[in-house]
Amino acid sequence: MERPSWAPPEVDIDTPSIARVYDYWIGGTHHFPVDRDLGDRVVEGNPGLPGTLRANRAFLRRAVRELSALGIRQFLDIGSGIPAEGNVHDVALDAHPDSTVVYVDIDPVAVAHGRAILAGEPRAAVFQGDLYKPRDILEAADTRRLIDFDRPVGLILAAVLHFVPDRDDPLALVRQYTDRLVPGSHLVISHAGAEAVPKAAPEAAERYRGAVSEVVWRDTAELTALFDGHDLLAPGVVRAPAWRPGPGDQAGAEPDMLAGVAVKPPTR
Ligand SMILES: C[S@@+](CC[C@H](N)C(=O)[O-])C[C@H]1O[C@@H](n2cnc3c(N)ncnc32)[C@H](O)[C@@H]1O
Repeated sequence: MERPSWAPPEVDIDTPSIARVYDYWIGGTHHFPVDRDLGDRVVEGNPGLPGTLRANRAFLRRAVRELSALGIRQFLDIGSGIPAEGNVHDVALDAHPDSTVVYVDIDPVAVAHGRAILAGEPRAAVFQGDLYKPRDILEAADTRRLIDFDRPVGLILAAVLHFVPDRDDPLALVRQYTDRLVPGSHLVISHAGAEAVPKAAPEAAERYRGAVSEVVWRDTAELTALFDGHDLLAPGVVRAPAWRPGPGDQAGAEPDMLAGVAVKPPTR
């Protein structure tokens, strides 16, 4: 098939990618037949998945709105994905026009499309980076230009830490970022929840794992542990739709994604 303009030459269009399959599931337009084929096969075994992922996006928007209301003006969003409706910078800049946002993703399509969307927006940037390389991300030119590490930061790790297996020590990885942030900074995490997915749809989970990436489903206690050193904001770690639902949100629906937001306390 012909390569569209948003897919740089290094993109392998015959192998599904995390970002493109996710984009397909949430109703985006940046995916190839191979992504749709896998996406459909996984959803066959887990029909609630697209709803779960939309609930994750809705959680993310609410979290950014809440942090903006708490005075957070700079966001670092790692594993940000292919831009989709209600991006972090849309919400943050809508709340406060002086906010800044740095997006980082390992996927070249996410970065290429992000650049196109952010052209002409000086208060937000996207670059290709690997969550596993905190120093590269924290020292990148765009990060240094848009984030003042003497002021609180909203660090967003939405639907990405479940790609970090226990053997890679996700807590140590998170700490390499949060150690760099001043008290008053906030940590936003959403994560595939162990209470539901693999038990409800083990074959669908296996299909994804085999074709795209290893995924680790963590339960509430395990996700809470990733906020170590922080104080969880109410209501704590809960299913994504139950985190401070707004009038249009369906609280209690779609149990598969867990989510929480926490603040870095003053040094004790
Ligand atoms: C499920 S999507 C989530 C997108 C967005 N954060 C959201 O919640 O809507 C996961 C994203 O993480 C990215 N990703 C996976 N591993 C990564 C890594 N090691 N470094 C940076 N990004 C990564 C994928 O490319 C994908 O875009």
